[in-house]
Amino acid sequence: MTQPRILVARAVFPETLARLARHFEVESNQDDQVFSKQELVARLKDKAGAFTTGSERIDADVLAACPGLKIVANMAVGYNNFDVPAMTARKVLATNTPDVLTETTADFGFALMMATARRIAESEHYLRAGKWTKWSYDMFAGAEVHGSTLGILGMGRIGQGIARRGAHGFGMNVIYHNRSRLSPDLEAACKARYVSKEELLKTADHLVLVLPYSAESHHAIAAKELAQMKPTATLVNIARGGIVDDAALAQALRDRRIAAAGIDVFEGEPKVHPDLLTVPNVVLTPHIASATVQTRMAMADLAADNLIGFLVNGKPLTPLNPEVLS
Ligand code: GLV
Repeated sequence: MTQPRILVARAVFPETLARLARHFEVESNQDDQVFSKQELVARLKDKAGAFTTGSERIDADVLAACPGLKIVANMAVGYNNFDVPAMTARKVLATNTPDVLTETTADFGFALMMATARRIAESEHYLRAGKWTKWSYDMFAGAEVHGSTLGILGMGRIGQGIARRGAHGFGMNVIYHNRSRLSPDLEAACKARYVSKEELLKTADHLVLVLPYSAESHHAIAAKELAQMKPTATLVNIARGGIVDDAALAQALRDRRIAAAGIDVFEGEPKVHPDLLTVPNVVLTPHIASATVQTRMAMADLAADNLIGFLVNGKPLTPLNPEVLS
């Protein structure tokens, strides 16, 4: 019996490839080229399934050129690289990797918030540059974390994880804004209070962004919003590039309109807005919030489980458009 053909579009753990190879004829990309749209189509047009990451855009053109495609399994919880309505219209199943990265990503969000507030990267660069000649009373004095007000924009699973860390571990006063309000039970578990976006911006000492990217959330934090924040506040983005207007952020940091920022995701990444590279009061990391070995393996496993579950057993684990199944 011939096995379904799949494309693994980026490099992945050898164990994941070996597992997939037991069920599929696999075309892999262990050289880890990032395919152009044309290259992606050339490789995908004879495949039934694809294992993708955020760098592969699956849109109407790609779908039209790949009529045999049945499933695209993203190794990411975010899926703004998918045009889900177009996939549903073509009866192509979309899957992502929720839950397995929640706590790890919340750890990173909290770590980036602390590094930003306590100026860890900036002071480390100073020390490495040989500029530390004496201790002084106000050297790298940052913003208090414990007991301060933690604001969260986007209160899904990861946002709730950050809220719990802040409320229970650091005695923070947690406020949040989200499209829909959490149930009273979840609010109590996170000790979080629902506020308007305006109140969130005006009140938070540390604002963490964890909302999904969409046309509505594009530049949700731009010059106007940055102007509403406290001049002592910090901003952390572990959600998606494009939610923050990076040029406006760089300007606000340069003008000390806000105190500091920690940014893991960038509009047009891996390109980084050049102005962000020249301001000192920002911690910059290359989209690594879910990057622990265990979590990345769990994400790869879940993406593989979705391909095997659907193409072999007819039962994917985490479908985004389950209507395709009926
Ligand atoms: C990472 O950004 C993810 O969406 O999993």
